[in-house]
Amino acid sequence: MTAKIEIQAATPKHAQLLAYLHAEIFPDDAWTQSWFEQQAKKQGSVILIAARRAVPVGLLVLSVVLDEGEILTLGVLPAARGRKVGKALLATALKQPVKHFFLEVAADNEPAIALYRSVGFFDNGRRPNYYPSGADAVLMMKTVA
Ligand SMILES: CC(C)(COP(=O)(O)OP(=O)(O)OC[C@H]1O[C@@H](n2cnc3c(N)ncnc32)[C@H](O)[C@@H]1OP(=O)(O)O)[C@@H](O)C(=O)NCCC(=O)NCCS
Repeated sequence: MTAKIEIQAATPKHAQLLAYLHAEIFPDDAWTQSWFEQQAKKQGSVILIAARRAVPVGLLVLSVVLDEGEILTLGVLPAARGRKVGKALLATALKQPVKHFFLEVAADNEPAIALYRSVGFFDNGRRPNYYPSGADAVLMMKTVA
């Protein structure tokens, strides 16, 4: 049976857990506990934690300003990938009352690009050599009717 995915809104008290998840998912670009603490206090900030069988496995950070939302990060622990956790986080973020969603993703990140396209994001520009790896950034956007 497929385990249920639970999505919870994070608060500043989750900052340590968020920093742990981020470091496991992005070992070369880990964001600090204090960054998550500050971000969770900001107006317009939406931080989601996904859990499977009560174990935290993923996170998403959305920043909302007026009718625009930028997805700042989205990730799932390597062992929990391919089980729709990323899609569940994204689906929850997309319920925010926002007209335009934006994000940027490395052009060679095929899983992430496929996930974003699967929920209606389309390519909206490109920044050459944007990442330290030399990869371009693809700017993606979704407009909600
Ligand atoms: C991108 C990421 C969040 C996807 O999370 P996930 O929970 O494994 O993805 P899901 O199981 O929800 O997949 C949903 C859809 O995304 C696409 N997808 C996910 N992984 C994929 C892969 N390895 N190859 C191709 N498509 C993939 C598919 O369209 C999939 O739908 P399907 O299962 O019906 O085929 C995860 O791979 C991850 O954390 N990567 C490292 C961090 C990262 O790159 N984050 C994005 C930064 S912008």
